[in-house]
Amino acid sequence: MSAPLTLFPARNLSGAVRPPGDKSISHRYAILSALAEGSSRLEHYSTGADCQSTLACLSALGVEVRREGGGVVHITGRGLHGLAAPAAPLDAGNSGTTIRLLSGILAAQPFASEIFGDASLSRRPMRRVIEPLRLMGAEIAAAAGDRPPLRFSPVSAGLRGLEYAMPVASAQVKSALLLAGLYARGRTVITEPEPTRDHTELMLRQSGIPLELAPRRVALAGPVAGWPGRDFRIPGDASSAAFFLCAGAWYPDSGVLIEEVLLNPTRSALLDLLRRMGARIEIVNLEQRGGELVGSLHVSGPASGRLRGARIAGAETVALIDEIPVLAVLATAAEGGLEFADAAELRVKESDRIAALARNLRSLGAECEERPDGLRVPGPQSLRGGRVETCGDHRIAMAFAVAALRCQEPVTLDDPGCAAISYPEFFAELARLSEG
Ligand code: S3P
Repeated sequence: MSAPLTLFPARNLSGAVRPPGDKSISHRYAILSALAEGSSRLEHYSTGADCQSTLACLSALGVEVRREGGGVVHITGRGLHGLAAPAAPLDAGNSGTTIRLLSGILAAQPFASEIFGDASLSRRPMRRVIEPLRLMGAEIAAAAGDRPPLRFSPVSAGLRGLEYAMPVASAQVKSALLLAGLYARGRTVITEPEPTRDHTELMLRQSGIPLELAPRRVALAGPVAGWPGRDFRIPGDASSAAFFLCAGAWYPDSGVLIEEVLLNPTRSALLDLLRRMGARIEIVNLEQRGGELVGSLHVSGPASGRLRGARIAGAETVALIDEIPVLAVLATAAEGGLEFADAAELRVKESDRIAALARNLRSLGAECEERPDGLRVPGPQSLRGGRVETCGDHRIAMAFAVAALRCQEPVTLDDPGCAAISYPEFFAELARLSEG
């Protein structure tokens, strides 16, 4: 555990910030570059520990990974069939994306492997990815039926394609199955109950792999031929930008510019919601980059100083799943508060985020109602300040650092170091924008 950090209220927020490279895209580009023929240069690769876990696992699979200063990573691809058997179990650290996406690849290899994670990852459900991979012909053993570590047996006969309707909306599962589908004989067709982030699809298509894309459905015919390495500048993390968007929306006179942010429609639902709540957001320098939308965001709160409340459910919950922690904090400033429904997935993230949010909101003096699949946070209500248990969860730590800006008294985070999972520079950047 890291040393506690005490944060103080801020009078206003202003200045420009450039979040680290998007975490979801960094993982995916690293993996696809490792399987490409030839080398790739990835600029603005995420500085978060999760994406470093992915690089470490790829190195252990025989991929040459070279880090240059300034967030540049060079990866020499080994081709789809060139990975080497790892000498030791692969360590995914805290990263659900690493373990689930790599499962799709490890399941298809002619060698045995094992992948494990930290205490939090070891509690997270893996059946959602193991079950469909087994249907494709993979042999996978897991602790307690569906928890890490996962052990993969060599596939001698190869994988076969699968038509699969995912019971849970999960971009990690969809991506794992698409990666396995690259190796499989026949068509892999995946349908999802709600749309989830589509970076894997966009990236595969950009690499020249034919994909059929329809709403909530993707199909791929395997096995695919190789694809070349590519150079790419990774857009800023949409979910890291969310902390500054929500903080900026909380002050009527704030002037925050968040630069070079990923604006993929499956990741930008927060902009629509904050506008619905009355925040003022302007998009500038919009561009298309490798199939992804990127732009910079000017944000300030409503001129009236009063945010409106909202109810978030169904597809909107899926689209906002990583932003709910900071939204639950902002909810205390909204007329009528915010209600989050259909969000049971939050209980199996890096922590049980519903429980962590309810406990910490109460500990800062706010009222809230915890539900099996969500949370209702009434508003407006004032936040007193106090002690926050981050539960080792980066998004809980950063959400309550945003809360600290608007508390009457200081807030102490018990273990702020977990923010480094996605955004090691976060507290310094927030302090830089805060006017005391
Ligand atoms: C991610 C997908 C989401 C999200 C996670 C990152 C990804 O999880 O919560 O932080 O990069 O694919 P699901 O797989 O549950 O959609």
